[in-house]
Amino acid sequence: MSRILVLHPLPPGGDDPLTEAEHEVVTLRTEGSAGADRLASLLPDFDGLVSLLTDRIGRDELAAGAAGRLRVVGNVAVGYDNVDIAAAEELGIAVCNTPGVLDDTTADLAFLLILAAARRSSEAEASLRADGWPGWDLLGYLGQDVHGATLGLVGYGRIARRVAVRAAGFAMTVLHHARSDTGVSGYVADLHDLLRQADVVSIHVPLTDATRHLIGPAELALMKPSAVLVNTSRGPVVDERALAEALHAGTIWGAGLDVYEDEPAVAAELLSAPHAVLLPHIGSASIQTRTKMAQLACRGVCEVLAGRSPPNRVTV
Ligand code: DGY
Repeated sequence: MSRILVLHPLPPGGDDPLTEAEHEVVTLRTEGSAGADRLASLLPDFDGLVSLLTDRIGRDELAAGAAGRLRVVGNVAVGYDNVDIAAAEELGIAVCNTPGVLDDTTADLAFLLILAAARRSSEAEASLRADGWPGWDLLGYLGQDVHGATLGLVGYGRIARRVAVRAAGFAMTVLHHARSDTGVSGYVADLHDLLRQADVVSIHVPLTDATRHLIGPAELALMKPSAVLVNTSRGPVVDERALAEALHAGTIWGAGLDVYEDEPAVAAELLSAPHAVLLPHIGSASIQTRTKMAQLACRGVCEVLAGRSPPNRVTV
């Protein structure tokens, strides 16, 4: 029997793999992010850790764990930019994530943001609730058509492909950009070409040194004045200040964001920007999917502790 530290409560059934394997599970009620000092003092006493994307797990915390019994981290997210993967690998600690189980749920939310930003549904509803509805208005809340528009996917992994499936139902032309040729129709080798052509740009890349501020002032300047930018990946992929400026200046038309550069803070310039739909990182937040994510991360922990290498083990 191993000792597993779960930093935050999981959805009901989420830790089933741990209890079925008869591990000792200690679940904390960490608010926000587990601090570095707390992690460093706790981790040596546990064989496995179950964390969330809000927990920063750096080299020092991992080294403290490795000096004790820590052998595996199960991060309940597909993104793992919160964990120092290189340090974990050097220290012999396996890291597992949750690929594959959240693609459709996140693609649903990306499409929700596309529609909501293009059709101004959030501001229309907020106004109805706050001020009442003065009556039907031919010129009220005019937005941009989504059906028949050109969708530009930045990144073409599993989630982007599921967004493309939804776009087909809206008769959209789908283009995509990825670092190497996907061989799929609609591939655009130059990101700038895609940004010039797209009516809706939806971002689906992981956060790495190469993708930080991938969309900055120069990229936003290439987009159409009628274009909508949607980000459900990681906040720092977009230069948030530049995006807010573009929205305020009207050089792009709208944005739908689920992620932010400095979560949970949301920049005041974005809160006041026109045609911006802002959600609190809920891309994968369905009961079914969050449960599957927790179980997959926990299963990875069990597999590693059983001496196996699970398919959801992350490598550098
Ligand atoms: C992830 O899994 O990385 C998402 O951001 C949250 O589901």
